[in-house]
Amino acid sequence: MSVHVQNSRMTTAKLRQMKANGEKIAMLTSYDFTLASLVDEAGIDILLVGDSASNVVCGNNYTLPITVEEMIFLTKGVVRAAQHALVVCDMPFGSYQVSEEEAVRNAIKILKESGCDAVKLEGGEEILPAIRHMIQAGIPVMGHLGLTPQSVNQFGGYGLRAKEEAEAEKLLHDAKLLDEAGCFSIVLEKIPAALAERVTKAVSCPVIGIGAGNKCDGQVLVLHDMLGLNQGFKPKFLRHFAQLAGTVKDAVNDYIDAVKDSSFPSDEESY
Ligand code: KIV
Repeated sequence: MSVHVQNSRMTTAKLRQMKANGEKIAMLTSYDFTLASLVDEAGIDILLVGDSASNVVCGNNYTLPITVEEMIFLTKGVVRAAQHALVVCDMPFGSYQVSEEEAVRNAIKILKESGCDAVKLEGGEEILPAIRHMIQAGIPVMGHLGLTPQSVNQFGGYGLRAKEEAEAEKLLHDAKLLDEAGCFSIVLEKIPAALAERVTKAVSCPVIGIGAGNKCDGQVLVLHDMLGLNQGFKPKFLRHFAQLAGTVKDAVNDYIDAVKDSSFPSDEESY
């Protein structure tokens, strides 16, 4: 086990430098102060307050229900924890699709009220005007292409994206547009590894993959998934770096037993 000690705050400029140097970027989701503190102390480069909070924190089946206010509430805790990492907050479904003005207003609200460093949006050419306006307003934007869970009802599921030539070409085109517009990074989710490699080589900004092979400039996973806390979810791309569900349940079982048999609290644990 190693702790990747960093002595200064991560910036979008440093991320670009990491791509140029061939240094991989490690990103994880976080939704609360306590876990985000541990992840930050371990040396993560980017903390993403993903709208996967809708599933992980709120227990919804989709990312769609989570609101701007809920994302801001969660992001505040992560921002307080982050001593090193760049903190990115997902813009939730409905907060940037209606108009460019509304998109910029919501992005500004998220930045001002949560204190995060940047926002992430799902989509390509269709949301380019909103992205351009945000970047013109000085807001760092991370793109997200491939499987974009906010569009699950359009896709009809969470399967692999861009298998066919036409969708692969559109994705490559979209990635170039996002890069030219000034996105500081792009997430590629659940697409063939060869396509992710093409995109990574074609754009100047760092590309972060999830289910997109190992030729991207970095990787992201949902924290609760990689810690093995989310027992029902094991897609091919997911590696469990720990099995914490069992650890948590064992600890809670031991606690229940100790309460029931009156061995907790002991004299030493009493005043
Ligand atoms: O919401 C999220 O957790 C994400 C990651 C999967 C990239 O967008």
